[in-house]
Amino acid sequence: MTGRLPPSASVATPITGVKMHAPAAMRNAAALTGMLVQHAPETGLALELASGTGQHIVSFARQMPGLIWHPTEIARDRMASIDAYAVESGLENIRAAQMLDATKPGWSETRNGFSLTVVINLLHLISTPATCTVIAETAQALAPGGTFVIYGPFRRDGTLTSEGDSRFDADLRRADPAIGYKNDADIDSWLKEAGLADITRLEMPANNLAFVARRA
Ligand SMILES: C[S@@+](CC[C@H](N)C(=O)[O-])C[C@H]1O[C@@H](n2cnc3c(N)ncnc32)[C@H](O)[C@@H]1O
Repeated sequence: MTGRLPPSASVATPITGVKMHAPAAMRNAAALTGMLVQHAPETGLALELASGTGQHIVSFARQMPGLIWHPTEIARDRMASIDAYAVESGLENIRAAQMLDATKPGWSETRNGFSLTVVINLLHLISTPATCTVIAETAQALAPGGTFVIYGPFRRDGTLTSEGDSRFDADLRRADPAIGYKNDADIDSWLKEAGLADITRLEMPANNLAFVARRA
């Protein structure tokens, strides 16, 4: 992790071998996969930032077989878990997990040409400048016409819209005042500033949002 987080922020527990289980990833995998099937290109290279345990990418790779999936993570135990899920799946369109700090300026210089980049449940755990770096680097990492998908919990018009969201955002800010839920309109602005267009906002289960944007 990049900073201080409350224990509720990124729950994943070891199961068999190096595999880890994230209950949240299990809960939202079907909805996320269904949304991506609707909005992802059919072929090309797909980059996932902050892949977590690997539970998601196996589902994505199975349902979107025309894409070659590149998982990345900042945590070594999660990289090992991603690789274990990928091997167990037998899928040939998942590459080995690579170490990537998505908030580090310049990472797109060596990782680019992606038809799809996905970031799920990261932006509320990092600061505003770090979020802007993730978006700017992703815009550079996309091939022309490439698609960027962001998913997570957000403020709407500056407001937290459920009790659970208010509690979680307060927990995050107590742990680190620089982090917490980002505002939906700011995401729109930062995507546009990074040169991305055709922005679609989708309501997702559990009061989450997805943003889909394209590089011209
Ligand atoms: C809440 S989890 C989400 C994981 C996965 N995307 C999911 O939804 O199941 C946040 C993940 O972000 C990773 N992470 C935190 N800071 C990061 C950074 N700066 N760059 C890349 N990954 C990061 C953590 O290791 C963790 O696996």
